[in-house]
Amino acid sequence: MRENNLDFYDELLAKTDIVKLISAYTPLTRKGATYWGCCPFHHEKTPSFTVSDQKQVYHCFGCGASGNAITFVKNIESVDGSEAVKILARAAGLEVPSNVRGGGADGRAAAEKRERLHALLREAAMRYHSNLSTPAAAKHNEYLAARGIDKELITKFGLGASVSGSDVIIHLKSKGFTESEMKEAGIAENKAGNWYDVFYDRLMFPIIDAFGSVSGFGGRTLKPDPDFAKYRNTSQTPVFDKSRLIYGANLLKKRKQRSGLDYIIVCEGYMDVIALHKAGFDTAVASMGTALTFAQAKQLKNFCGRVYISYDGDAAGQKATLRGLDILASAGLNVKVAGMPDGLDPDDVIKKRGREFYAGLLANASTLTAFKIETLKKSFDLTAPDEKSKFAVEAVKVIKSLENPVEREEYLSLVQKYTGYSMASLLSQAGITDAAAPAAPPVPPPPAKPKTDGGSKDAKARLFVLACLADDAPFVDYAEDFNSLFCGEAEKTLCEYFLQNKAQNAKSAAPLYNLVSDEQRELLDAALNYEFMAGDGAEKYADCVRILKIGAIEKKKNDLAELFGKTNDLQILKRINELDERLLKEKNGGNENE
Ligand code: CTP
Ligand code: MN
Repeated sequence: MRENNLDFYDELLAKTDIVKLISAYTPLTRKGATYWGCCPFHHEKTPSFTVSDQKQVYHCFGCGASGNAITFVKNIESVDGSEAVKILARAAGLEVPSNVRGGGADGRAAAEKRERLHALLREAAMRYHSNLSTPAAAKHNEYLAARGIDKELITKFGLGASVSGSDVIIHLKSKGFTESEMKEAGIAENKAGNWYDVFYDRLMFPIIDAFGSVSGFGGRTLKPDPDFAKYRNTSQTPVFDKSRLIYGANLLKKRKQRSGLDYIIVCEGYMDVIALHKAGFDTAVASMGTALTFAQAKQLKNFCGRVYISYDGDAAGQKATLRGLDILASAGLNVKVAGMPDGLDPDDVIKKRGREFYAGLLANASTLTAFKIETLKKSFDLTAPDEKSKFAVEAVKVIKSLENPVEREEYLSLVQKYTGYSMASLLSQAGITDAAAPAAPPVPPPPAKPKTDGGSKDAKARLFVLACLADDAPFVDYAEDFNSLFCGEAEKTLCEYFLQNKAQNAKSAAPLYNLVSDEQRELLDAALNYEFMAGDGAEKYADCVRILKIGAIEKKKNDLAELFGKTNDLQILKRINELDERLLKEKNGGNENE
């Protein structure tokens, strides 16, 4: 009988043969008591990686990677600790106890459900893929040929064709899957008693996770009709979470295991990834059109610390680039921006200008700070004196947050070059009197607050309003005093960030360096990737703003009540009464009269 989790981990590690585990990733040879091999975490030709089966640990003398079986799985599979434990437990035939995340009977049931859905999705992907060899997919093949996607790429990415509303459903039924399972996997819907394939007629891109499991699909329409949604993606399912998946992660992992990774290219679309692989840039992955999330950034970091952002050269792409940059940088990645020429995406660039040109864009990619300064520069007219000084103020704000004084000086001289202002005035603008002095420490992070109830009415309203701001929804009234609506530090910071994005015409915004806790980053992820649905309009927005107003007034009232309790100051009581009246007014929907 195990007393606690620690016993479970001990048992798990004892039942895991670390030499056998690691041998599956890199060949090991025994020399005395130690096993040696080439390190699977960095590129090398002579072995400096050691494994001790007595101590059940590994250590690399080249890159310093070290740990036990759990750390190994965590790093090599790019997963978090609890997932690593689950993988090892499955291999060792142990049941994960219920007090470990994802363990116990509930965890097991969920795992079985996921396995079943993965099996279903794999079967569907194989059906779509084999459809491409039938006459029913003539249009799909024509389209692929027109876009220069050959047999080899079709196989590499497992592309396929949905050829009718029923084909895949009949096939899956013959394999023993039910319609309700197909619905749960995001493949089938029921309309007036009939089940149909939601990807009807589309060209299919399976989205495969880093473990090689098919998690969902993107389906491209072949119709040129601009009113028809170009892509349809699997909606949220137990195995498909758009904000965690990375398109091409499976290939990236194989590539890493085959020849290591020096850098990753992150682009926006399925077609971009395929075009880049075709041109030899086989470390390209995509975020599937949504803003990069912190979860994706962490996963990328486990693969490789150096990332090039290669988003579309249009305004939306630039906005997405800036957000992606902040998120990647905050996850500790070394990020550079490979700017695409106006209006083109990586696929277009390679088709129109060739692979050498694209390689040049990577070679000349800008650092995060340089990209921000260049973006700012484009949004001001530097020949007008007042715009020039505004540019300098904004650029200095970006530079101020850099910790390395040498870097700061380098970028300040760039601003000096653009504006002609003296270094002394730029330094004083930055609040730095001596360039050699260390940077002022960043504002200390606010103390971690207990996790708020993410499901409460207030939390939902807060998230919705933030999502509307992030999206610059047409019904947002920017005259609103947003600062007094939000109470928490994270919300206030995010709100300010979105407002700055708006004010600067979405071309630039202050970096999110003060987002320090995972909780804050999660809120950012949630706001950026909010899935708007029918009915998420002006009315709901107004309701949510009202809920926030009421919450803010109530909080103020409570604070004052506490103060009154201590001071008995009648002035405070008067203010409490005023707030009460405002509360009543808000609760009546903003009308003075009942
Ligand atoms: N996307 C989506 N739904 C849409 C449009 C786009 O999910 N209606 C996602 C897809 O993942 C797509 C990515 O956003 O790959 C980038 O969109 P876009 O640049 O419009 O598409 P491309 O990948 O360039 O596709 P294509 O070249 O076929 O137009
Ligand atoms: Mn494209």
